[in-house]
Amino acid sequence: MKKNILYAIALAVSFVGCSRPQDKRTEIENKVETLLHKMTLEEKLGQMNQLSPWNFEELADRVRKGEVGSILNVVNSEEINKIQNIAVEESRLGIPILVSRDVIHGYKTIFPIPLGQAATFNPEVVEKGARVAAVEASADGIRWTFAPMIDVSRDPRWGRIAESCGEDPYLNAVMGTAMIKGFQGDSLNDPTAIAACAKHFVAYGASEGGKDYNSTFIPERVLRNVYLPPFKAAVDAGCATFMTSFNDNDGIPGTANKFVLKDILRDEWKFDGMVVTDWTSTAEMINHGFCTDGKDAAEKSVNAGVDMEMVSETFIKNLKQSVAEGKVSMETIDNAVRNILRLKFRLGLFENPYIVTPQSVKYAEEHLLAAKTAAEQSVILLKNDAQTLPLTDKVKTVAVVGPMADAPYEQMGTWVFDGEKEHTQTPLKAIREMYGDKVNVIFEQGLAYSRDKNTSGIAKAVNAARRADVVVCFVGEESILSGEAHSLANLDLQGAQSQLIKSLAATGKPVVTVVMAGRQLTISDEVEASDAVLYSFHPGTMGGPAIADILFGKVNPSGKTPVTFPRMTGQAPIYYAHNNTGRPANPTEMLIDEIPVEAGQTSVGCRSFYLDAGNSPLFPFGYGLSYTNFEYSDLKLASDKLTVDGEVNVSVNLKNAGKYDGTEVVQLYVQDKVGSVTRPVKELKAFQRVELKAGESKTVTFSLPVSDLAFWRYDMSYGVEAGDFKLWVGTNSAEGLSAEFSVMN
Ligand code: BGC
Repeated sequence: MKKNILYAIALAVSFVGCSRPQDKRTEIENKVETLLHKMTLEEKLGQMNQLSPWNFEELADRVRKGEVGSILNVVNSEEINKIQNIAVEESRLGIPILVSRDVIHGYKTIFPIPLGQAATFNPEVVEKGARVAAVEASADGIRWTFAPMIDVSRDPRWGRIAESCGEDPYLNAVMGTAMIKGFQGDSLNDPTAIAACAKHFVAYGASEGGKDYNSTFIPERVLRNVYLPPFKAAVDAGCATFMTSFNDNDGIPGTANKFVLKDILRDEWKFDGMVVTDWTSTAEMINHGFCTDGKDAAEKSVNAGVDMEMVSETFIKNLKQSVAEGKVSMETIDNAVRNILRLKFRLGLFENPYIVTPQSVKYAEEHLLAAKTAAEQSVILLKNDAQTLPLTDKVKTVAVVGPMADAPYEQMGTWVFDGEKEHTQTPLKAIREMYGDKVNVIFEQGLAYSRDKNTSGIAKAVNAARRADVVVCFVGEESILSGEAHSLANLDLQGAQSQLIKSLAATGKPVVTVVMAGRQLTISDEVEASDAVLYSFHPGTMGGPAIADILFGKVNPSGKTPVTFPRMTGQAPIYYAHNNTGRPANPTEMLIDEIPVEAGQTSVGCRSFYLDAGNSPLFPFGYGLSYTNFEYSDLKLASDKLTVDGEVNVSVNLKNAGKYDGTEVVQLYVQDKVGSVTRPVKELKAFQRVELKAGESKTVTFSLPVSDLAFWRYDMSYGVEAGDFKLWVGTNSAEGLSAEFSVMN
């Protein structure tokens, strides 16, 4: 009897649990339909129009007439409340405006750029960062951000690699999911939730030659195996919106790509959110040579599945006529408007159109702390000869040198519209304030900014180095050198920074180089010249204290690189998960300086490598050292014969064999040895951050569903293929203990 009652309660609870979201959905759908039926075609096209206004009065007038569905780039909270009041009280149907902004890695409190956040390999830290951004941005009335950017990015020449989570589809999926959860919170209608936007759909990261906006040529299989998985993960995480991409893929601009916008996003993935174009990308299809004029562009875009147009206004100007001519159906317009209204209802904008959150949340103590934790975990230790780091008590005088040591604006990185440099804590400030009572700090910048070619200050920096026990040299990139439209054809350190490092090294004093940049740079010589190297993708507001604590050993670095570091620019695009050629390189290849004069045509072998750069990267994906030393042993597979519905259960012993407590990112890679199509040499399938005290050991286990080994096969079906697999568990993509297993049908 008791059992029956319990069962009945469980059933009731589960029933209530399932039915409530469904009820809410139905309620919203009903409201959407009721409103839609009241709307004129003009009002519908108004909802599909997003503006970045320059003039408040003009905007107010257009909102009153129902010509605007959303605005971006208005951050004055008084103006936002006024506009909202006009929309709600003075427009015919009282539909609130959706206020948006690029809140990419923080609003006021700036977190590391997304590439740096990815280097934490810590989705919790990343989720927290997006939550903080949402709380601060929503306090100013922003309820929609254009993030996360989850374009798989394999070419450091492309400036937008800074905004991505790097080269790996799985890492982009995990981090993108974390950001979406953070932005959107538990429920979109919480006033601190901001709708996320998965962008740029799709393949934008593959821009030819790393040049921004350039064409891409990604065939469907690669699209599905590599570029789409982070976006599918975004849909699964409940991402509210998607943005089309600027690039044309195989001749079809992202803003008119029906195959991805309708067939995949809507029909296969059942996405019921909203799709916005990128900035003027509809009208830009005329430049692409894909559309004759604005009307043609609007029709192609809306018929492909776009709901809202950002800025170029071809929809509102042309689609009434297109509907009259039968070139665009009313059903298409209605579906777009449904997607827009649904989002506005989900955000609770009809009930709470105005800003309610107190302003005091900006730069709140806990936000700064979260930003510091993220910055700490994002820093990657690339080299540490003779345990140069952490700096010990023996160090009495530190020379702080370099153009990035005290560059509060630059260390925030790209896409910072709202963060203020007055709030940034630079390494120089932090070292002085936090460690100034322990060490004597001499500061000589050496170069005024990262591109500075004027070497007249280097002598003073060298002199400072001579007077110190150790030199910490901060180099890298100013913020403007990465991000949108900021591609580079040469990835060496800019200006005279390399000369600065080499001059400091020539003093014989230990040199610690700290690189703060928006992408991975070609720094072989500078790594060689330095005793220790820390790499910090622009670390944001709290970068200084984070780096100071790492330098002085209060924090042990744990970041791992989410991108492969090339030795030379010409190796780009570069990524670990490449397919094998029929002639893979030998590690012992003879390189350019070893080749004899008049060498015979085939004397260097016929393998896949560069005569000058070889075939290996400077640092592989997943690489990052610690002050302590982690030892892997005893890799065990529970079973090496599995079925497609089984699990790969693997364990490894991890020991902290060094003197410091530390955190290791344990990485699991798999290779499908033979496929119906060629398969990557390795793919990241899982990772765990494991904290160990000095001397402590732990058994780390992974349970990987065999279904995670599925891919798009020869016949374009999706699934796991029976056969032999190899796996590695280790500290980066190039090292690890390995085992083999097979999968049977
Ligand atoms: C960028 C987008 C961004 C949009 C709005 C475009 O130029 O490509 O990523 O969200 O501008 O600012």
